[in-house]
Amino acid sequence: MTDILTDIANGVMTITFNRVEKKNSITSAMYAAMADALALAQADAAVHVVVFQGHETIFSAGNDIGDFLNAPTATQDSPVFRFLRGISTFPKPVLAAVCGPAVGIGTTMLFHCDLVYAGDNAAFSMPFVNLGLCPEAASSYLAPQLMGYSRAAEALLLGEPFMAESALEMGLISRIVPPSEAAALAQGQAQKLAAKPLNSLIETKRLMKKGQTSIVAERMAEEGDSFGRLLREPAAREAFTAFMEKRKPDFSKT
Ligand code: COA
Repeated sequence: MTDILTDIANGVMTITFNRVEKKNSITSAMYAAMADALALAQADAAVHVVVFQGHETIFSAGNDIGDFLNAPTATQDSPVFRFLRGISTFPKPVLAAVCGPAVGIGTTMLFHCDLVYAGDNAAFSMPFVNLGLCPEAASSYLAPQLMGYSRAAEALLLGEPFMAESALEMGLISRIVPPSEAAALAQGQAQKLAAKPLNSLIETKRLMKKGQTSIVAERMAEEGDSFGRLLREPAAREAFTAFMEKRKPDFSKT
């Protein structure tokens, strides 16, 4: 698996999206690799912190749309949901360095990161409706909580992107820096965390998340069921086919 690179150094596991030619879109195999990496990071006492990163020009274009079209099964055991459960319940600190577009799960996974450092070219979007789908990763709960309902409606119903400044203002990200500095900043902060007492970090994160843990798990499961059903419906099939054929979707007959 070279589309996902993992590296462990000085208490920090770094997980890198490495499929730049396809805009770091995420295949089933990549979700499986990330879910496995998180399980390993959770079990390995030598790992204190996890950092996700992409490329200076692209974080991730979200789920691989070819995979959506050709292998639309999304049951609760599928790699994507395994990854989402892994990141949303991960007990140690999770950081991300985000530059360029962060589409779909490229944005929603950030709701489960503790610290996000963004390049000033970061652009976040959750265009699930435009693909005939619905939110995942508990974003239908977490986006309104974080952004307020009306901004969440623009992001989730209209599928409108928002830029780093708005993401900073709403608290999705921690800081904006030039794209060339985002990865180094995330690594620097991760190193600081890795030097702190791990059990204190774990307990602090658990306590901060306690109010939402069961709601997030429940909502994620419900979204997963709806998402799996919508994936097979005509609107989604039209959206995926249109993307692959590089044309605009026509939902008039769906
Ligand atoms: N799934 C599969 N392939 C994807 C992809 C995705 N989500 N996103 C991009 N790619 C592929 C393109 O098909 C293209 O492949 P090709 O070179 O074989 O034709 C390549 O990556 C480059 O993409 P392109 O669209 O030409 O790059 P861009 O810089 O003009 O635009 C994005 C970048 C991210 C804005 C655009 O690719 C995009 O909107 N992607 C789809 C995002 C999406 O809807 N994701 C699903 C969310 S649930």
